[in-house]
Amino acid sequence: MKRLKEKSAIITGAARGIGKAFAKAYVQEGATVAIADINFEGAEKAALEIGSDAYAIRLDVTDQSSIDAAVKAVEEHSGGIDILINNAALFDLAPISEVTRESYNRLFSINVAGTLFMLQAVAKSMITRGIGGKIINMASQAGRRGEPLVAVYCATKAAVISLTQSAGLNLIQHGINVNAIAPGVVDGEHWNGVDALFAKYENRRLGEKKRLVGEAVPFGRMATAEDLTGMAVFLASSEADYIVAQTYNVDGGNWMS
Ligand SMILES: NC(=O)c1ccc[n+]([C@@H]2O[C@H](COP(=O)([O-])OP(=O)(O)OC[C@H]3O[C@@H](n4cnc5c(N)ncnc54)[C@H](O)[C@@H]3O)[C@@H](O)[C@H]2O)c1
Repeated sequence: MKRLKEKSAIITGAARGIGKAFAKAYVQEGATVAIADINFEGAEKAALEIGSDAYAIRLDVTDQSSIDAAVKAVEEHSGGIDILINNAALFDLAPISEVTRESYNRLFSINVAGTLFMLQAVAKSMITRGIGGKIINMASQAGRRGEPLVAVYCATKAAVISLTQSAGLNLIQHGINVNAIAPGVVDGEHWNGVDALFAKYENRRLGEKKRLVGEAVPFGRMATAEDLTGMAVFLASSEADYIVAQTYNVDGGNWMS
């Protein structure tokens, strides 16, 4: 049986990587999915690849009018929103002495404010509709503890875990479950960028950091985006109705809490 039959979902940052894998899995489980990304061409390409139950939406999560327009577009397309995945995020890396306000503002504006105000807009829509819904935020193992070169990104993901707790507690009265997924290291274009930054700051060869983090995972390798889809489907399904304000590690054993 399809677990998300006739559900309407919006996934931010789903033009590639983990969000795209989530979109594919949701469509396979019977949902209609809005692939909402600042990279509209990429979103269109992903939608085409996934099939007619996926469609592209232009979205910049740092822009309130863009958030409002995206929510309206999904309401008009599907009659409402059952599921939101707050997946769009940006990474950066620098030693404390080189952290810039520009990088801080950019990361907090996408990863934290973007998550909060997307969540707010979708929650308002869900409350008006009156049948509840599921909101899943993408946290990270980076939000569980700091890392010497990753101060700002780690802080944004700790904030996502905290927002998940507060929003989860506030919105369950409306039948809206807010939970989060904390992945470890997930192979893909994103991590190629991360690897290049570590190569610069740790004086490594390209690919070396990626190999090392993969070997350090208790499971024995980095995750693929598909390793995360089971949790994303579960948290969006009615099987997760009693789960409130939690963050689940899906990281091959990297972190225990
Ligand atoms: N890849 C990993 O190892 C890893 C680990 C832990 C957590 N995560 C988290 O999982 C999520 C997905 O990661 P990924 O590896 O697929 O990332 P990714 O960089 O491959 O994809 C991010 C997507 O977000 C989009 N985006 C960027 N800014 C946007 C904006 N302002 N508005 C709308 N869309 C925007 C990008 O165009 C891109 O398609 C992120 O929240 C990330 O922090 C990833």
